[in-house]
Amino acid sequence: MKPFCSKICFGEVKMETKVWKVDPNLPDPKAISEAAEMIRKGGLVAFPTETVYGLGANALEENAVKKIFIAKERPIWDPIIVHICDLTMIELLVFKLPKGFYELAKRFMPGPLTVILPKKPSVPDIVTAGLPKVAIRMPNHPVALELIKSSAVPIAAPSANRFGRPSPTTAEHVLHDLVGRIDGILDAGPTQIGVESTVVDLTENPPRILRPGGVSKETLERVLGEVVVAAKVQQGFELGLPSPGMMPRHYAPSVPVILTEGEKAKFLVEIEQIKSRVSPSSQIGVLSPEGWAKESNGIVVFKWGRWGKWDELAQKLFEGLRWLERQKVVAIIAPLPPPVGLGLAIRDRLTKASSSDDEILDK
Ligand code: TXA
Ligand code: MG
Repeated sequence: MKPFCSKICFGEVKMETKVWKVDPNLPDPKAISEAAEMIRKGGLVAFPTETVYGLGANALEENAVKKIFIAKERPIWDPIIVHICDLTMIELLVFKLPKGFYELAKRFMPGPLTVILPKKPSVPDIVTAGLPKVAIRMPNHPVALELIKSSAVPIAAPSANRFGRPSPTTAEHVLHDLVGRIDGILDAGPTQIGVESTVVDLTENPPRILRPGGVSKETLERVLGEVVVAAKVQQGFELGLPSPGMMPRHYAPSVPVILTEGEKAKFLVEIEQIKSRVSPSSQIGVLSPEGWAKESNGIVVFKWGRWGKWDELAQKLFEGLRWLERQKVVAIIAPLPPPVGLGLAIRDRLTKASSSDDEILDK
């Protein structure tokens, strides 16, 4: 499908956004059924998953899915993951289950894994951006699973942020980006993993990781054998991205993100260098591993977590970027983890959020 424009423009739509506070493990059935009713009526409901918050709509209704693109200001060439609550739902959506699917499903459904599979015609083209394949995920969160079950339809859901911004790991992040643009949100507190699911294309041989995420490459390989990571596509969306989430700039706060090697000494030197290049009244934000940078004049520190504990750092990554942005810093400096385990996903998100340090001198 050829995109007719890169963005659907957002008009001045203002609606009341209903907030249901729910227990993450035992959500109130009344809240779930009200939210499910909104989904069935073609509305938009944000909900927690174990990775990040998603913005859900009935995946089988073209008009409902269209609203996701409008609320997020998301380009229509970027396809959306379809969320299911049990494997029987897959029959409705997918044509043929490739080798390896059931082994993966046994381990990671539910879990932070999205699998690309050949789609059936029942999936509207708007969900897959016209691609013949659909992305399927069963989230491992009681609220998400109950919502899908109660809606009795598969739920199409991207991350519940405005397009290009850091993904939301709390209901406050969602409301900051989307209040007045969505019908409701199930607020079950912060999400556990903090970076999005791993997206793996199972129609290819060997399977190809299009986006590193909550399940590491090493773990996938223990189930599937050889798995390759797609080469980063650096230029031109028109050239056809294997997965639009591979765009060079994404997950970005509104201030420049500057990356350093993952070593304390190099990180501290970079902070000093950047400090010397900005005006004395400016604040610089640092995403600092425990015991690395200290709060001082002109330096705002977000206590990120213990270096080497990649799950801890993943959980607080987007929270840190959004928090530092709110402190009105002129730049954010962060060290890059090595590409192992969840470190690969953090590296990927930080690289996409970053920009050259010359940018801050131009602003
Ligand atoms: O953890 C997650 O995956 C979260 C939660 C809400 O489930 N969702 C999420 O969705 O991160 P989103 O739309 O922000 O990112 C989904 C990624 C995008 O990079 C999209 O391009 C890719 O998956 N994707 C979706 N459908 C695809 C398809 N049919 N073929 C290739 N890539 C696809
Ligand atoms: Mg997203």
